[in-house]
Amino acid sequence: MRRCIKCKTPTGIFIPHHKLSLCKEHYVEWYQQRVETTIRKFRMFTRDDRILVAVSGGKDSLALWHALVSLGYEADGFIIDLGFGQFSEDSIHVSQKLASSLGRPLHVMDLNKEFYSINEIKKKDRRPICSICGTVKRYFINLYAKKLGYQVVATGHNLDDEVAVLLVNTLSWNVEYLRRQYPVLKEGNGFVRKIKPLCKTTEMENRTYVEVNEIEFVEYRCPYSKGATSIEYKKFIEDLENTSPGTKLRFYSEFLRKVYPLLQKGVEDQGVKPCKVCGEPTSGEVCAVCLIKQKMSG
Ligand code: AMP
Ligand code: FES
Ligand code: ZN
Ligand code: ZN
Repeated sequence: MRRCIKCKTPTGIFIPHHKLSLCKEHYVEWYQQRVETTIRKFRMFTRDDRILVAVSGGKDSLALWHALVSLGYEADGFIIDLGFGQFSEDSIHVSQKLASSLGRPLHVMDLNKEFYSINEIKKKDRRPICSICGTVKRYFINLYAKKLGYQVVATGHNLDDEVAVLLVNTLSWNVEYLRRQYPVLKEGNGFVRKIKPLCKTTEMENRTYVEVNEIEFVEYRCPYSKGATSIEYKKFIEDLENTSPGTKLRFYSEFLRKVYPLLQKGVEDQGVKPCKVCGEPTSGEVCAVCLIKQKMSG
């Protein structure tokens, strides 16, 4: 039986790539400290900022919300009711449960009431549901953060997500995307600041955190879950990680440290301007959400 390196209590929690055994109590302390270090390293926000945590009801974003509040940050929740039946009901239920145990508000936006349901949009839009959903989520998360007076939006993207995206973009040398892959996207031009404080913690670490803290979360994926590709990449990365623990963290951290700065040289501003219809930021004339509105009414 392994023992906690801090208090020597026998424990089943072991983190291979950090070679750490920790009891439940010290695991929580270690995890929160890791999140705090990431926040400081990337200067994500301070205790004076009001943070809106975009929650999905999954383990990552709920772990994030719990950790931020435990660390003393002013962090409230925001969830979009996507209208995906049981999946959305369960997601809102578990997020509301965490909100009451944290004593923080959860803002809920009903997409169907305030816009169109994703399923309705899909009837007139040929793109995969996931990309429609992503576009709509990005737009309304940003819009609501501004409306509700939050300076920063935090999402639950974890190390595994970041590594999978990094690998895909590296395999095709998609420099435009690589240039923007950073855990902090600055505010400005109508965007609030967007940050990923879990970019250095793995899916497994987040799962352990919610389990140890007995936070209920939605275990299953959304009914339109991203196709097999990202899952296949994650499997491949996991195999590499098992052969050589630390590969994921090294690949991502060294990209941020060595490659990301090189990619910023000589880059001009992206030319974002207000959408001609709604005034929200876009790189075209009319934003993606207003284009959806036009399709729906046309
Ligand atoms: P996904 O794109 O589903 O992998 O989710 C990435 C992040 O987006 C999550 O960690 C959450 O922070 C946020 N998110 C996902 N779904 C929702 C939702 N329905 N409402 C608000 N935020 C969400
Ligand atoms: Fe948007 Fe699954 S959560 S398609
Ligand atoms: Zn201990
Ligand atoms: Zn618009």
